[in-house]
Amino acid sequence: MLVCAEPHNMLLRHLHVYNFKNYEDQYLEFAEGCHVLMGMNGSGKTNLLDAIYYLGFTKSAFAPSDGQNVREGQHQFLVKGKFERPTGVAEVACAFQKGKKSVRENDVEYTRLAEHIGKYPVVLICPRDGELVTGSSESRRRFFDSLLSQLFPDYLTELIRYHYYLKQRNALLQLSAQSGRVDYDLFAQYHQHLAASTSVIIGYRQRLLPVFTQRLVQHYSFVCGGTGEQPDIGYEISSPGPGLAELLQRAIPTDLVALRTTIGPHRDRFTFSLSGRELRKFGSQGQQKSFVVALKLAEFQTLERPGDKPILLLDDIFDKLDDQRVKKLMELMKSDTFGQVFITDASPIRAGRIFEQAGILPRLYRVEQGRVTPA
Ligand SMILES: Nc1ncnc2c1ncn2[C@@H]1O[C@H](COP(=O)(O)OP(=O)(O)OP(=O)(O)O)[C@@H](O)[C@H]1O
Ligand SMILES: [Mg+2]
Repeated sequence: MLVCAEPHNMLLRHLHVYNFKNYEDQYLEFAEGCHVLMGMNGSGKTNLLDAIYYLGFTKSAFAPSDGQNVREGQHQFLVKGKFERPTGVAEVACAFQKGKKSVRENDVEYTRLAEHIGKYPVVLICPRDGELVTGSSESRRRFFDSLLSQLFPDYLTELIRYHYYLKQRNALLQLSAQSGRVDYDLFAQYHQHLAASTSVIIGYRQRLLPVFTQRLVQHYSFVCGGTGEQPDIGYEISSPGPGLAELLQRAIPTDLVALRTTIGPHRDRFTFSLSGRELRKFGSQGQQKSFVVALKLAEFQTLERPGDKPILLLDDIFDKLDDQRVKKLMELMKSDTFGQVFITDASPIRAGRIFEQAGILPRLYRVEQGRVTPA
């Protein structure tokens, strides 16, 4: 009889963090399943999750510039991880030296960092996610841009191209406003590039949303225990790709006053709603929290491939989510919905109780002033 073993998920087997935030030189080995990092406030729990996030995204989830990731008083950092998959082992090394970032996979440096995005999927659930619901449209756009970039390299390529020409156009607006001379031909050239990228960007967004919304509905109902509320995602296009070149040309006088480009996919709006009412304005705190968790679970499911699950990073969820939502996440953890998971919590007693109640035996780590030791 042929026995088919359950395919293994992607695993982060080793992690080496050097001069990254409050870590001096830390080497760790991980196994399958759930890892819990416990320690006092400010000890470095989130920083360690951020190092793992960095390996997937080639950037920090929190620090806007790489300089902020360098340990105080130092000049460089290194984050290195060894990933294991049924298809093989790969080492990813992200280094920042003399103001320059380099990312290597198996000792081969990427010429474009974009090539790396999506290869080692990571999903982070953290307190700041609340902004997805309560914040501006930009945070929601960034969420979908990031998800689509991980799923489709072409999307990221077009997005980068779009933002390159958007920057050129904005610079030309500034220059034209200063000099009083408008080079319509140069504008027209930029507009052709912007319109071509826009068609691709909008196409991907429109194709993702129906599938993604379906998943969101399922997860919301699971998280809330079936309240009958209907979550939905609205997508308002600021201006469609075909015809955009002409609209941009016509918008020159307005944009010369605004000194920026006022139409295009960087202005598209994503809205979240519950049974037809906008969540940002009318949702209760509990509804908003459930929506965010459901959104993240839908993200996880969308990035998942057969036998290859994203690494899940859960930052401070026990503190920020109420018992009901934590219980639901634990149910999923118990049912092997997730692959490798890293969880932080400041309270070892609370974390211990939650895992005991769920019947899960995690691997425990103690974090103290940038040092991690198995507990
Ligand atoms: N570049 C840096 N160099 C040195 N230390 C840094 C750097 N960046 C952040 N830190 C330190 O890291 C610590 C915060 O770490 P982190 O956010 O991981 O804590 P935490 O354990 O998650 O705490 P909490 O329980 O409050 O969330 C702070 O003490 C901060 O000063
Ligand atoms: Mg933290």
